[in-house]
Amino acid sequence: MLILGIETSCDETAAAVVEDGVKVLSNVVVSQIDIFAEYGGVIPEVAARNHLEVMMPVVDKALKDAGKTWGEIDAIAVTHTPGLLGSLLIGTLTARTLAILHKKPLYAVHHLKSHIYANWLIEESSIASEKSTLDFPLLALVVSGGHTQILRMEAHNHFEIIGTTRDDAVGECFDKVAKILGLPYPGGPAITKAAKDGDRNKYKLPKPNVEGLDFSFSGLKTAVLRAVQAELGLPISHPSHDLKNHLNKTQIADFAASFEKTAVDYLLNKLEKAYESNPETKSFVFAGGVSANELLRKEAEKRFNNVFFPEPKYSGDNGAMVAAAVYFEIKTGVQPIDPYKLNIMPRSKIS
Ligand code: KG4
Ligand code: ZN
Repeated sequence: MLILGIETSCDETAAAVVEDGVKVLSNVVVSQIDIFAEYGGVIPEVAARNHLEVMMPVVDKALKDAGKTWGEIDAIAVTHTPGLLGSLLIGTLTARTLAILHKKPLYAVHHLKSHIYANWLIEESSIASEKSTLDFPLLALVVSGGHTQILRMEAHNHFEIIGTTRDDAVGECFDKVAKILGLPYPGGPAITKAAKDGDRNKYKLPKPNVEGLDFSFSGLKTAVLRAVQAELGLPISHPSHDLKNHLNKTQIADFAASFEKTAVDYLLNKLEKAYESNPETKSFVFAGGVSANELLRKEAEKRFNNVFFPEPKYSGDNGAMVAAAVYFEIKTGVQPIDPYKLNIMPRSKIS
């Protein structure tokens, strides 16, 4: 089965053709990172306008790269929630129109589900058995710019959220800490780069003590802010945007390294706790933009068996994961939706 996946929930315009939910025939991603690096974050209206400009060329290229025609596509999959309203509208309106025009069944899918299904994706040239040990029940740690959640999956398309952030997401925390340190957007890769020469134990940062399997990241961000002000001998009233002008290279590296270690430890400690209450877990999957983090990957391999990460190119937003998620939805009996009636739901829960 050939599915065309379309993704526009934030600042990537993406489309891909995937065969049977795993084999990626094409994967086209146009990122707006360069535009937003200048502003230190995404401006929703600007993101939507950029999606509009490149959406159709991206879809056309995905078909061309896959060597497929519209006649060969079996279904269209699109992200309909959660995300930026204007961005989601461009993707869903495109998918609806194409579904009507080419008479294809249309499926709308939750963005986090897609991030999790990025773990099933393989290159056309890879051997399918590489992923054969990805077994249920599994625990998924979803770590992105908007979400931090631990989910339990009993089977395909069966999700139970067992832990979630009470405030900021971990990716957002990376982005905000990077901003304090004067590092560019997106903060994740910039923090990793700066941390390379840093001392991970230089600054002791607290791991917010939240009950059960829930997280809190706003406290960690504030802890970094206070530690930077203390290090510089400045009062807590000193504006955060000015701190970067007082930090030297070593301090930036040490803060980046100490923060990265604390965030990764915090995530993995919670996942260990989730494993304690779910000892029958057979695999651990990581998903979302932060799952590209090298330290997280290295530490997770040390602490758990049967650990899966998406290939780095599929850990950020892309259309292939959308197509994969819909393939497994179809396998579990999910029906197409009426393209005339599809609504976007910017804040709905994974189901
Ligand atoms: O999943 P994603 O591409 O978009 C959302 O759905 O939110 O995640 C984006 C987030 C950003 O906050 C970015 O800083 C973070 O993922 N990120 C990373 C890394 N690469 C991207 N965080 C830590 N380490 C990385 N290597
Ligand atoms: Zn995402």
